[in-house]
Amino acid sequence: MRTHYCGELRASDIDKTVTLYGWVDRRRDHGGVIFLDIRDRTGVVQIVSDPQRTPDSYEQANTLRNEYVIKVTGRVSRRPDDSLNPRLPTGEVEIYADHIELLNAVRKQLPFQVSTADSEPVKEELRLKYRYLDLRRERMAKNLQLRHQVVKAMRRYLEDKAGFIEVETPVLTRSTPEGARDYILPSRANPGEWFALPQSPQLFKQILMVSGCDRYYQIARCFRDEDLRADRQPEFTQLDMEMSFMSTEEIIALNEDLVGHIFKSVKDIDLPSPFPRLTHAEAMDRYGSDKPDTRFNLELVDVSDVVKDCGFKVFREAVAKNGIVKILPIPGGNEISNVRIKPGGDVFKEASEAGARGLAYIRVRENGEIDTIGAIKDNLSAEQKQEILRRTDAKPGHLLLFGAGDTATVNKTLDRLRQFMAKEFRLIDPAKINLLWITDFPMFEWNADEKRLEALHHPFTAPHPDDIDDLKTARAQAYDLVFNGFEVGGGSLRIYQRDVQEQVFEAIGLSEEEARNKFGFLLEAFEYGTPPHGGIAYGLDRLVMLLAGEDSIRDVIAFPKTQQAGCMLTDAPSKVDPKQLKELHVASTYKPKSDS
Ligand code: AMO
Repeated sequence: MRTHYCGELRASDIDKTVTLYGWVDRRRDHGGVIFLDIRDRTGVVQIVSDPQRTPDSYEQANTLRNEYVIKVTGRVSRRPDDSLNPRLPTGEVEIYADHIELLNAVRKQLPFQVSTADSEPVKEELRLKYRYLDLRRERMAKNLQLRHQVVKAMRRYLEDKAGFIEVETPVLTRSTPEGARDYILPSRANPGEWFALPQSPQLFKQILMVSGCDRYYQIARCFRDEDLRADRQPEFTQLDMEMSFMSTEEIIALNEDLVGHIFKSVKDIDLPSPFPRLTHAEAMDRYGSDKPDTRFNLELVDVSDVVKDCGFKVFREAVAKNGIVKILPIPGGNEISNVRIKPGGDVFKEASEAGARGLAYIRVRENGEIDTIGAIKDNLSAEQKQEILRRTDAKPGHLLLFGAGDTATVNKTLDRLRQFMAKEFRLIDPAKINLLWITDFPMFEWNADEKRLEALHHPFTAPHPDDIDDLKTARAQAYDLVFNGFEVGGGSLRIYQRDVQEQVFEAIGLSEEEARNKFGFLLEAFEYGTPPHGGIAYGLDRLVMLLAGEDSIRDVIAFPKTQQAGCMLTDAPSKVDPKQLKELHVASTYKPKSDS
């Protein structure tokens, strides 16, 4: 019987006889005395075997190699003073092994070393293919533990303190419009018809409110077939919540309490209360982003009115066409050479990847002189330059980068440059935690490709009561939670009246018939006594990634998908037996490109 986990042994266990199970983390032979680090999910502890003191285990210890699975029985001793290891939680003790049993050996060469003692970087492909070895490593084992702790804190708060109940919603369902492409599955029993995997449980949780559930939550798996990034997976997990009869303020207060509880339980961090808030308009204006990283300043400055009649055509036209001219002022930015800002340079590349066609700039020299370079040289009057310096509070050493054009591209460009400069000048304190709410989103944004309005969140979001007369420009009663520049949660009050819901469907160009086809069940439910309700969903993977200090959600998901949306471990997706396709009434039209 196991008496202890390896990582739990402390000085208080000295003289106890213990039985441990685990993997050989590493083995060292010091002149006939064998030291083994043995590891389980709690950590490592040192085992000693020598031919004099523990002759029974010595022969076996001699044959062990890394990652062999063993059982060890022995006595906990204090380590000699010169081998105490303060960096290891078990570093005060070691175990003299009376008996070692080999439970299983490693029969192939390890693709990479598991031990933290071996800090060689391992390619992600290899880590994902041999995920079982990767998950044995300390970093990943810790991340999975942390994820578990976060979910546990969520459940404890929601169930024990706030009266939520967990309800499971279907995975085989209809398409939910969260804006991404669906994963779809053919139905064998209903030839020619398809299920969609849920992009979120949005409609079911609203129906649960109609059902009188009052406070629902779910740790819900969601599926979205969209382009992958470090913070996006095709299959990800939400903490999904919905509640009835609560105002936005009450929902936000409850959620601040929940998030506070999570941070306190897993990190012992006290968050500020209440969390800061920015309206969407203010966030876009000051940071060019609806998920600004506010751990550093570098705020954008709108100078459209200053340059609207200036000599530089690009600025003039931008303003004339309803666009903007904005500046990112960078203190000390003069260190960045012209070569980097001009075409071919890395700063220019950032801007152009965000859609900018040019990158005008001004330098304030150490003696206070202003250098207007390139296209804007001679095109700004002395007054215009002075006003720009005043607005941007530019001092000697400042670099001012301009964005000019349509509002969305300018904001995207300067947001990207702002983040680039924060890294360049090391402006981010990694210990900082900045959580903030973004509120008052617009209901809709213009989809230029499809030439129609599109819901910014989803079409079930309630419009602001003051804006109900002109839905197209209305603000939504929606709120996102941003954590160090990442959107970790988003929610809203919902529409609960059929006529308002129909108006919103109409605004996004959904015909009455389409609306009835897709969402008839919801519209109908609204006619049977629907309570006012609202909710939110958190991206669990993103939240854990940030708490773990990782850069990718793949590092906090046990079995994530690759950039190509596949699973390296199981090699999914894969071909299926043609018989299966036939049963499903499906034929593939895919023709592999010939090699020629
Ligand atoms: P939304 O689409 O904003 O809202 O999703 C909620 C949160 O889920 C996370 N998220 C993702 N995480 C990883 N990979 C992805 N592909 C991915 N997509 C989204 C984000 C996001 O903030 N039904 C609404 C919620 C509501 O209104 O209650 C919804 O799904 O952290």
